[in-house]
Amino acid sequence: MNTPKRYLITAALPYANGLKHIGHLAGAYLPADIYVRYLKAQKRDVVFVCGSDEHGTAIPIQATKEGTTAQAIIDKYHPIIEQNFKDLGIAFDIYHRTSDALHHETASAFFKDLEAKGDLETKTSLQYYDAAANSFLADRYIKGTCPNCGHHEAYGDQCEKCGKSLSPEELINPVSTLSGNVPIKKETTHWYLPLNKHEDFLREWILKEHANDWRPAVVGQCKSWIDGGLQPRAVTRDLDWGVKVPVAGGDGKVLYVWFDAPIGYISATKQWAKDNGKDWTPYWNDAETKLVHFIGKDNIVFHCIIFPIMLKLHGHILPESVPANEFMNLEGDKMSTSKGWSIEMDDYINKWIKKENGGTGLADSLRFYLTSIAPESKDSEFTWKGFQESVNGELVSIFANYVNRTWVLMHKLCKGKVPPIHPDLLDEEDNAILQSVKDSKAKITELLEQYKFRDALFEVINLARIGNQYMQKKEPWIVAKNLATDPTAQAKIDNCMHACLQLCANLAILVNPFLPFTARKMCYLMKVVDKMLDWENAGNFNLLKVGYSLRPPELLFRKIEDEEIEAELSQLQTNLKAKKITMDTITTTDASTAPEANDNAFKPEIVFDDFGKIDLRVGTIIDAKKVEKADKLLQLEVELGLEKRTILSGIAMHFEPSDIIGKQVVVVANLAPRKMRGVESKGMILMAEDAHGKLYFVQPSEAIAAGSKIS
Ligand code: MF3
Ligand code: ZN
Repeated sequence: MNTPKRYLITAALPYANGLKHIGHLAGAYLPADIYVRYLKAQKRDVVFVCGSDEHGTAIPIQATKEGTTAQAIIDKYHPIIEQNFKDLGIAFDIYHRTSDALHHETASAFFKDLEAKGDLETKTSLQYYDAAANSFLADRYIKGTCPNCGHHEAYGDQCEKCGKSLSPEELINPVSTLSGNVPIKKETTHWYLPLNKHEDFLREWILKEHANDWRPAVVGQCKSWIDGGLQPRAVTRDLDWGVKVPVAGGDGKVLYVWFDAPIGYISATKQWAKDNGKDWTPYWNDAETKLVHFIGKDNIVFHCIIFPIMLKLHGHILPESVPANEFMNLEGDKMSTSKGWSIEMDDYINKWIKKENGGTGLADSLRFYLTSIAPESKDSEFTWKGFQESVNGELVSIFANYVNRTWVLMHKLCKGKVPPIHPDLLDEEDNAILQSVKDSKAKITELLEQYKFRDALFEVINLARIGNQYMQKKEPWIVAKNLATDPTAQAKIDNCMHACLQLCANLAILVNPFLPFTARKMCYLMKVVDKMLDWENAGNFNLLKVGYSLRPPELLFRKIEDEEIEAELSQLQTNLKAKKITMDTITTTDASTAPEANDNAFKPEIVFDDFGKIDLRVGTIIDAKKVEKADKLLQLEVELGLEKRTILSGIAMHFEPSDIIGKQVVVVANLAPRKMRGVESKGMILMAEDAHGKLYFVQPSEAIAAGSKIS
């Protein structure tokens, strides 16, 4: 393809209702940033847009839970996330937000246009309604069992366990998350985008035109959606949080979050244009613009099927590519902030980057490792050990080591000034090194154009490796021993060091998209301006002028120590346990199925058989002790008549071990065992909790034999 006239690069708008983890970073933002930095170094006309996704049901639901407002939540997280991205070098041209008036206008006009042209359909149907809460139950306001995998906590829009998109109708045993009640059905009218009418277009555009240039997993997912039969998709909701439906009959309704959010890319571009005195329209309307969406795989259907249909109907260009990434797992498990199994960007920044004032390259160390394990074709795995090995083994001992050796030798053998070249003494190896740079540049360029960031980064490191080998072969420090006897010794040293130094300048250019802080630090050491990082400069050995003096050496990266890794690993376990225990609450209710908004409501009715399955016994606590490194857990030995049981209970904040020995308790005796902190817990103690969160044992009115049945 010819070089496009301009580029519009988007990275998925993150929901502004919580901190984002490094899996998000690796999935969309980091690859997008690498691509954009490369394009900018190529002096292409490019705009990189992102911003907060601030609608949807998840945000008001969370607000209710936390006793605050949706607005307060987004106002809290929007600036934090924006700053987190900055601290990690993700350089958006604009970080907008969908709560902004400009976005509301843009999304509203978009909808109005489609509606006026007859591109949307309306349909009246019966939908779930919570009579007590007086509210329809869109998306996350309804929960139930997933028809696909049996997960009990599936939402009305999606099952988070198996990832399947759902509609509320598909849920088995649906309950309202507002009240915990079983919902009734009530009539309501909504607007639908008839995806089915665009099937031919999608087949042609994705399955034919892009069958070979898009990632196989992306094409594959689209194919299975299309082959599965596309249905009209509701694009409005009965809610009050979102962009109001701007046409007759739209009172009390808003646009579906997935209708408005991608339009956020357009609003962001408009805002950027306004701020910079530019025209936004060619970026979205001119066929010579290349539009690329960077996303995680859970967003494929929205960016490859639904939004393109909307774009086409509204007269915009279509994405040229959607290089979606797979997921990045963490130490063997899926990353999840709510489960405590994740590394938040904010956390990494505070713990690793800020502590050392950014001085030791730790933002780039993370960028490096995440890119080197980028989940471009399959899920990948972040491990702290892997982070340590990758940083110490490649960044420190290959890349930084090469640059550092060059600087040290430059100061020792060449007085810290760029030495002259002595053409008559150049040998094969000196010439080969320049050719290596040219070859690397060509490879890296090609890989970047194909969104193969992982391989491209590997090539950069490989070039540093070649530099080390060259220096090792030339051994200028050995040649220096002959300065008194060999009249060509200094000239040989000059030739070698000149090449080593020019290679460093080239490395700075080639590493810049991946490790921008490092590239700038190298410019600082070379006393050159950032302009040197222009891509066209790579492949040249005249970037630093003879006689020019350099700054003294400084380390680009530091080693990651074993203790730091151990601390991170144990922190991860602590986070996990803390969240698990808050989720368990260890009361008679299982918090995971309890209604979210009104904790005190009764659970849905069960039949006697459901109750009959629970084996409740009276037990006597015969021993109790704290569990190491788990603030909330007590390890109890409980006498159950027939046997003694070890039971872990999250009551350490409420009771001293010595105070509860001898107490009688009610035990769920047939609960499946569960391991926590390496201890197997067999059973659960029932506790009552008052409105202030104080816990009480549930006990027989008088002491009775341990093991007595309760029914
Ligand atoms: N907020 C969504 C998510 O985190 C992504 C929205 S992308 C957009 O999954 F295109 F809708 F903006
Ligand atoms: Zn499921």
